[in-house]
Amino acid sequence: MMEKCRATRRLFSHSFKSLFNHRSVSDHSTLRSASVFTHHFSDNGQRCIPLFQLQKSDLLARASFSRDYKQTFWPPLGRGLGGMMCALQFRSFGSAGTKIQRNPSFATLNSDDVTYFKGVLGEKNVVQDEDRLEFVNADWMHKYKGSSRLLLLPTTTDQVSQILKYCNSRHLAVVPQGGNTGLVGGSVPVFDEVIISMSSMNNIVDFDKVSGMLVCEAGCILENLISFLDNQGFIMPLDLGAKGSCQIGGNVSTNAGGLRLIRHGSLHGNVLGLEAVLANGNVLDMLGTLRKDNTGYDLKHLFIGSEGSLGIVTKVSILTPPKLSSVNIAFIACKDYLSCQRLLLEAKRKLGEILSAFEFWDSEAMDLVLNHLEGVRNPLPPSVHNFYVLIETTSSDESYDKEKLEAFLLRSMESGLISDGVLAQDINQASSFWRIREGIPEALMRAGPIYKYDLSLPVENMYNLVEEMRVRLAQKAKVVGYGHLGDGNLHLNISAPQYDDMILAQVEPYVYEWTSKHRGSISAEHGLGLMKANEIFYSKSHETVQVMASIKKLLDPNGILNPYKVLPHSLSTH
Ligand code: FAD
Ligand code: MLT
Ligand code: ZN
Repeated sequence: MMEKCRATRRLFSHSFKSLFNHRSVSDHSTLRSASVFTHHFSDNGQRCIPLFQLQKSDLLARASFSRDYKQTFWPPLGRGLGGMMCALQFRSFGSAGTKIQRNPSFATLNSDDVTYFKGVLGEKNVVQDEDRLEFVNADWMHKYKGSSRLLLLPTTTDQVSQILKYCNSRHLAVVPQGGNTGLVGGSVPVFDEVIISMSSMNNIVDFDKVSGMLVCEAGCILENLISFLDNQGFIMPLDLGAKGSCQIGGNVSTNAGGLRLIRHGSLHGNVLGLEAVLANGNVLDMLGTLRKDNTGYDLKHLFIGSEGSLGIVTKVSILTPPKLSSVNIAFIACKDYLSCQRLLLEAKRKLGEILSAFEFWDSEAMDLVLNHLEGVRNPLPPSVHNFYVLIETTSSDESYDKEKLEAFLLRSMESGLISDGVLAQDINQASSFWRIREGIPEALMRAGPIYKYDLSLPVENMYNLVEEMRVRLAQKAKVVGYGHLGDGNLHLNISAPQYDDMILAQVEPYVYEWTSKHRGSISAEHGLGLMKANEIFYSKSHETVQVMASIKKLLDPNGILNPYKVLPHSLSTH
């Protein structure tokens, strides 16, 4: 009993520290510039409430805020990370990158080709400038680098069709590129493939306020769609840290998951139609906007997640949910992984339909963010917490939402699942909590070379892999675990002082074997790209991969679309 009283006193004193700490977080100017939010939420100077200080009266007084609080923290490519790019060494990474040979059946670009493309696209949309090419030849992590000598910027579907028809007839290989934020080396050439960027196809075609159906071109930047919809009182069913640069066509082509999949499901459910151009230039108009359409094979699904290997997505129709008025965010510390797991189960049971995000990260990830990102502070007191969880709820009924969340948090505190925590009181605080979670990939990049794995695993033993990797690597590298716990998606990252074949040998194929043994997937949401094309058999049977190769052969007989990616090289080279 005495022990319990002492513990409670300690928790209350933490709470006061939390309060103090958090004030400095919300005061930080870099996190306050959310001018886009000001008309939705006025900063009334309220402080965030530590969970352990939550009493009924506090809970009732706490304001809810609209869900449109997020900022783009991830700097669009070409700006924020430009300096970093110069400082880092490029290096072909992993076993896949080093072994492949250029497919000799592909032609080499000549001046007649360039003249043809200029005729179709106009001079300015055919780029040969070396600086611009250097940029589009390299991926976000600076691991993969091609040597393309041509970047094409089509502005219409018809132009995409003409380009592909020509490339197919000439056997010129191409790589479709969206925002180039992909993490598996899929968006950049391996050799001299022509880069077809979708950036100039960025128009919103139609938005139906009754159905919430958005039809847009593939090159629309996700964040621009989010802002557009926000003004209409809707939201995108997809959100991710790269939103400031990634494009909806890239999202669809990777079947991106992101931060709200737990609530809205995958793009296979939300994309109702698309338009794609095949390798031979044929345009497949599947741009339906119907919820229900059972007329034969639903071919659009082939293009969702096929990473530009079957066609170029030019337009998308996507079902968008209405924006709800009440959003709450709790930033929580847990003592161990088991508590995170049990908290997830409880959240699913007790929060049910209002749960809109459940993200987790470990103390290694937290340290990286605090050490490498400017202006980021831990809203909790500086005690040792092994795990952090961000829970977001979204609903249309403020009091209902609050009541449910408060009851859940109080119960979880009492049962010891939560060690400490704070609730965001306004948009700035909410943004600063999200900044910590969304900043992890950027912090890892700043820390140095990364071996990045994106795994689907049963939640109950997911974190064992992180711990096993720590033992395997001893002190040679930092092992970091975070991800979309609510979706059973672990991001295992190994942050090393330099790319090192000895480290790689400790990591691969161990990680893939471990994942396969636990009936997981070696790609939860990032795709296979170049990095994991040869590893597909860890997650798919030979028969399945054979059917995939047949589909590829049918739609792209010359194999010009994003060669060396997705399918194993033994099956995809002609
Ligand atoms: P690119 O990187 O340009 O391309 C990705 C692949 O799609 C390539 O194979 C490319 O050839 C193909 N492609 C692109 N556009 C088209 C098109 N129009 N038609 C056909 N093929 C095309 N991913 C997640 O799933 N969840 C996350 O939470 C997440 N967070 C991220 C956070 C950060 C900071 C970063 C850098 C990346 C993150 N990613 C995440 C990975 C990445 O942002 C996604 O894979 C995103 O969907 C890629 O979109 P993009 O427009 O940048 O595509
Ligand atoms: C994330 O969830 O932050 C992204 O998928 C990026 C990453 O895995 O690093
Ligand atoms: Zn992710």
